[in-house]
Amino acid sequence: MAAAIDSFQFLLREIIKTVSHIRDSLALIGLLYVSTKTIKNACTLLRTLNDHALSRIAQSRNSPLQFGPWAVVTGSSEGIGKAYAQELASRGMNVVLISRGENRLYKTAKEIESQFHVQTCTIAVDFTAGREIYSKIWEKIKDKEIGILVNNVGVMYEYPQYFLDVPEERLWQIILVNVSAATMMTHMILPQMVERKRGAVVMVSSGACTKITPQMTVYAATKSFLDYFAKALQYEYQNSGIIIQSLRPFYVATKMTSYSETLSSHSFLVPPATAYARQAVATLGFTSRTTGYWPHTLQAWLCNIIPEGLWMWGASVLNTALRKQAEKRLKDKASIKSDDSMDNLQLKADIKSVDSMENLHL
Ligand SMILES: NC(=O)c1ccc[n+]([C@@H]2O[C@H](COP(=O)([O-])OP(=O)(O)OC[C@H]3O[C@@H](n4cnc5c(N)ncnc54)[C@H](OP(=O)(O)O)[C@@H]3O)[C@@H](O)[C@H]2O)c1
Repeated sequence: MAAAIDSFQFLLREIIKTVSHIRDSLALIGLLYVSTKTIKNACTLLRTLNDHALSRIAQSRNSPLQFGPWAVVTGSSEGIGKAYAQELASRGMNVVLISRGENRLYKTAKEIESQFHVQTCTIAVDFTAGREIYSKIWEKIKDKEIGILVNNVGVMYEYPQYFLDVPEERLWQIILVNVSAATMMTHMILPQMVERKRGAVVMVSSGACTKITPQMTVYAATKSFLDYFAKALQYEYQNSGIIIQSLRPFYVATKMTSYSETLSSHSFLVPPATAYARQAVATLGFTSRTTGYWPHTLQAWLCNIIPEGLWMWGASVLNTALRKQAEKRLKDKASIKSDDSMDNLQLKADIKSVDSMENLHL
């Protein structure tokens, strides 16, 4: 009997020992997990403070002129590109503005010259035209010391759509503008920066590529290309004194987002281009990858902690709602137009009948 009790107590002690080993190991794993998460979050917080607080405090000492006297901004007759060019000009930089619309470019250039007393140069080209435009651009900029290149030009779908609903023409535009323009402009301008051992290249990517975003498939994929391109170039040229920055904004109220009523009105998360550019320019030289705007960094943080499947579902719901809003807007516009043309027809008919009445009276 005593032997049985002894062996039972022995067994119990062994079980408790094993359980306490398991408990200690689990506690250690838990501690490691919590510490890694805490360190990761602390690093994110410090990076955010550096990107959005320190950069703004130090911006008076951190002039973009340190990179050179001229900046080239593609897609700069309106939206983020125009606001970015204005910000650089307000800090004393001369700017080369590149877009399609000659009149809009000219107007923007004159505004910048008179407001900031800097030089401007305009180049009207269509980036969908392919190879031949680059020699035209080179002719105009080859004698200028380019300090900053902002690869901003970008095209999105008319509104969020499923891949097969996007017109083929628009797919070509997206690839030629979003991918080819940034690649070839960088290929053209980077050599002189490397030679002088100073310069900065900004790739305007997008928050849309933070996680897979359905109904923006090709657009977001091209923005992922830019993000990757920026990161890889940064590594290749880190010893040449060149800064390459991937800028990944979420929604900014511009012509690109005008398909939706919600995205056209300014809010905490959807700033006007000028407010966005003010913060984004300040981050240049402080960080190689940022949303450029602190409320967007909160959005990116949230996006990163949400599991991918949940994010894709949420993005899908949001984009379906935005698509419906855009389709309704287009329908309303079309019906106003047809009402107008009906009115015009009616007016023309009225005028005709008045004319014929007058003729009769004559
Ligand atoms: N707005 C947003 O919510 C948002 C969010 C994330 C990322 N982004 C990115 O930010 C960048 C700027 O966007 P945005 O909203 O400012 O766009 P935007 O308001 O549509 O302006 C686009 C600019 O690019 C020019 N452009 C368009 N197609 C061109 C072409 N084929 N050749 C030459 N120039 C062309 C336009 O001028 P012309 O029409 O006269 O050529 C205009 O100056 C894009 O790369 C976009 O992907 C925007």
